[in-house]
Amino acid sequence: MIENLVRKNILKLKPYTSARDSFLEGILLDANENSLGTVIKDDKNLKLNRYPDPAQNKVRKKLADYLGIKKSKLFVGVGSDEIIDLLIRIFCTPGKDSVLIPVPTYGMYQVACNINNVNVITVPLKNNFQLDVKEILKNIRKKTKIIFLCSPNNPTGNILKKNDVIKILKNFNGIVVVDEAYIDFNESNSLINEIDKYNNLVIIRTFSKAWGLAGTRAGYSIADEFITNLLFKIKAPYNLNKFTTNAILEALSNVKKKNSFVKKLNSEKAKLINELKKIKHIKKIFSSDANFILFKINNATEIYNKLAQEGIIIRNRSNQPLLKNCLRVSVGTPQENKKFIKTLKDTLE
Ligand SMILES: Cc1ncc(COP(=O)(O)O)c(C=O)c1O
Repeated sequence: MIENLVRKNILKLKPYTSARDSFLEGILLDANENSLGTVIKDDKNLKLNRYPDPAQNKVRKKLADYLGIKKSKLFVGVGSDEIIDLLIRIFCTPGKDSVLIPVPTYGMYQVACNINNVNVITVPLKNNFQLDVKEILKNIRKKTKIIFLCSPNNPTGNILKKNDVIKILKNFNGIVVVDEAYIDFNESNSLINEIDKYNNLVIIRTFSKAWGLAGTRAGYSIADEFITNLLFKIKAPYNLNKFTTNAILEALSNVKKKNSFVKKLNSEKAKLINELKKIKHIKKIFSSDANFILFKINNATEIYNKLAQEGIIIRNRSNQPLLKNCLRVSVGTPQENKKFIKTLKDTLE
């Protein structure tokens, strides 16, 4: 029972009822807003003097149509980072419960646990960066509430085998979060079709990558209504602001544009991999289902620093488990990619 996993204070919590919970229209004299208007000259008819919809109805409706799933399973956060934090706060009692994280992976799971004083159990991925299901199941403790899986995984770039994720879903009595931030770049192994089968599955996604909306801060979760309602219960009353709402609605009317970005970025990625393959100092290039490439090179830190001095900023992942001498580069524009390859070659001369 998922209910048994939830912190007692959260189950009992009487959430803040915001003014816009009941009425979005009418003569609104309930929220101490400025009824005269906003100081901003052109608010693009967003009525910025008024608070946004706490239930995120328009966005969730459009997102539900796009995904082909029920609106009641959707929650929109201030980036998926907000959702990671909210999930930890719903399920993990500080100082008592734990979270299991296969590593290397996206750093925010660990940081969000640290902020919330929640223990972290790390289990290394296998050498091919797939899940070590046996070790994961072996390391689950009585107080382990959440397992964070990232697919495609950042920073390794690979999609996780669906069967492995399903084995974990079936054998773990806690919450399995599958972070699909990069799923647009290879949708084949998404867990979205499993959402109705497992009430302990939470998929999180973001508008920050393929959709090109990192600046707006928007991510969403797909989960059973019980978990979704808990997210609504504990979020800040108006977490989704009107600018972001507007941006998401417009984005969802421009799916073709997103798809063409994905196509272009994937083809640029292939070109970039080809160019990297020609550089003999590079010991390994890992295959990628995302919009970045991880590669192994001698003296990675030195090279990272030299590139930075030339204004080419990539990510040094060398001190992560299994990633000695590994650098991660995002796929840029064709010009940026060319410049990166040229500067890298110059650095190695
Ligand atoms: C795997 C993964 N999840 C989540 C995020 C954060 O996404 P958002 O911008 O929606 O907070 C990132 C950002 O780099 C990421 O790599």
